[in-house]
Amino acid sequence: MTGPLANLDGRRSVPSKQLAAPGPDQPTLLRMLRSAVRVPDHGKRVPFRFLRIAGDARLALGEALVARALERDPQAGETVLDKDRNRFAHAPVVVAVVARLGPDEKIPESERFSSASCVCFALLQAAQACGYGAQWLTGWPAYDPVVLRLLGLAEDERIAGFIHIGTPKLEAPERDRPDPQSLLSDWMPHA
Ligand SMILES: Cc1cc2nc3c(=O)[nH]c(=O)nc-3n(C[C@H](O)[C@H](O)[C@H](O)COP(=O)(O)O)c2cc1C
Repeated sequence: MTGPLANLDGRRSVPSKQLAAPGPDQPTLLRMLRSAVRVPDHGKRVPFRFLRIAGDARLALGEALVARALERDPQAGETVLDKDRNRFAHAPVVVAVVARLGPDEKIPESERFSSASCVCFALLQAAQACGYGAQWLTGWPAYDPVVLRLLGLAEDERIAGFIHIGTPKLEAPERDRPDPQSLLSDWMPHA
């Protein structure tokens, strides 16, 4: 792949299960975040912040998810619980992108959440550009109020995404991409 869009065209996710150590160290992660925060931001609200979940904290979070999953469904089976236990166990570093919302006189919440989502995408690109693989995941923990409290989110904060980052164990296969031509039409004024 060559040309000015080669980097963009080469972007793809690496499933979190295929991400191993080493992950980015502190300076490298900060470098990636410096690129990722350059998102369009209506009103310059900076409606996002980051939580790093790394090392043993990933495993502790997994155990907390199992406890919460059992509260939500006491009949949950071992397969389901194991999935929750290991949600954060694969990639060495997970960055939770937290959307900071709340009342705002001018900028709609959806626009501020969009900026936080753009950060997620920009972080995927930055990780790949730095030689890492990454995947944007949510799942039920991103929406469960008990988990959000456990993560220290305020009432007016939400998870835009968990960005799992690590070294790819294998080359992720390409998947079919939408055909832009079939998605593009011209708007015309009515006569
Ligand atoms: C907001 C958001 C949440 C996502 N959550 C999940 C998830 O929980 N589980 C999952 O398998 N993929 C999830 N995905 C999809 C993956 O991030 C990714 O797009 C997918 O693995 C396909 O890879 P690609 O990015 O190369 O197209 C999510 C994507 C977005 C935008």
